Amino acid sequence: MNSKADAQRMEKIVSLCKRRGFIFQSSEIYGGLNGLWDYGPLGVELKRNLKSYWWRAMVHERDDVVGMDGSILMNRAVWKASGHEDTFSDPMVDCRVCKSRLRADQVIEKKGVRQCPNCGSKDLTEPRPFNLMFKTYVGATEDESSLTYLRPETAQSIFTQFKNILEVSRKKLPFGIAQIGKAFRNEINARNFTFRSREFEQMELEYFCRAEEGMNLLEYWKEERLKFYENIGISREKLHVLTVPNEERAFYSKGTYDIEYDFPFGRQELEGVAYRTDYDLSQHQKASGKSLEYFDEETKQRFIPHVVEPSAGVDRTVLAVICEAYAEDEAPDEKGKMETRIVLRFHPRIAPIKCAVFPLLKNKEPLVAKAKEIVDLLRPHMLVFYDESGAIGRRYRRQDEIGTPFCITVDFETLGERDAKLRDTVTLRDRDSMKQERVKISDLLELLSLRIA
Ligand code: GLY
Repeated sequence: MNSKADAQRMEKIVSLCKRRGFIFQSSEIYGGLNGLWDYGPLGVELKRNLKSYWWRAMVHERDDVVGMDGSILMNRAVWKASGHEDTFSDPMVDCRVCKSRLRADQVIEKKGVRQCPNCGSKDLTEPRPFNLMFKTYVGATEDESSLTYLRPETAQSIFTQFKNILEVSRKKLPFGIAQIGKAFRNEINARNFTFRSREFEQMELEYFCRAEEGMNLLEYWKEERLKFYENIGISREKLHVLTVPNEERAFYSKGTYDIEYDFPFGRQELEGVAYRTDYDLSQHQKASGKSLEYFDEETKQRFIPHVVEPSAGVDRTVLAVICEAYAEDEAPDEKGKMETRIVLRFHPRIAPIKCAVFPLLKNKEPLVAKAKEIVDLLRPHMLVFYDESGAIGRRYRRQDEIGTPFCITVDFETLGERDAKLRDTVTLRDRDSMKQERVKISDLLELLSLRIA
């Protein structure tokens, strides 16, 4: 954590996530399972909106990218060829006193002496590699012949399907294959809420190109991805680009950027943008004996394409979006006295609920009927929430806390009881400014659609 205030902020965010149904501990009634999380009714909407926007930006709005959805379990040979079976590990250290298992980079060093961060003991083992892949067995026998792993990245199914997709899509280089899906890593220390989870989702693009285009495309994708984060409401000031130093890059990578975000618990990676050269396709060609070459019709050359990979974590981006959105400000209560307001300032594009509709009073049938008409009008186009219970100020506050950008209230003006000119108009309240405008019901759909696009 950076400071006490940051730690408190993070505690409030975690508590809000549970209280309002964004994120729960997995298997909670049994005491949970470390590093595993479930998304509740609002969390799942937020996550789906994020993934849909990624898919829209990376696949639908481009001519040069197609999608796929691969299986989680793959032939073990994939993980041998990719290098994961031999090298996908973190160095692990045991504390002989408190028995903690630690990632080597979590061990504290004071005056050149290594110490356990939990109990302070200096009695630690030497680091040894711990493979992060979860093992499982396919079929009825549980031995070496049936062993495989839950995939630790989605990328490998893209590489192994490269030839099939090239043939069916008839794309020319440069072009990309995108995938969103689950991946699993048996982290030595899962921590920081959902940031480092053992089961998580990735949004990965493998963008295939000629060798000479690799370095330029690395720059291009870094910039594109920064724009993406800004388009989901993350401020540029809190995003940082780390050029991964030579000695920390995978040996086959010619360049890697980490896009990092200032979480309350410190600056951490959201996404890696890596130029992986032709390493993966070459490895799979060698191991499978099947050609993964590309034939250039113009030059009549045959070669293995290079690849640039922007690889983002869904769960950590959801967490970044929540951390970025969380705010406390002041708003008047029912009697006009100022009180603290908790508000999630999500970008309307990814907010779980786009709009809430309230009849001013629940026991006035014409108000309720009109409000329900508005729900029916908007529901085919966006997620709408109907609420008739409690004072209107409290209803606004409940929506602020879950980040609903717009609230519509049907009042007596809507019924034209006071001023016929206002018949069939409603108030549209903006979450952030708390300002209200009077809008015709017939204009609502277009106006809201533009603001949430
Ligand atoms: N495919 C890159 C990663 O999973 O980190």
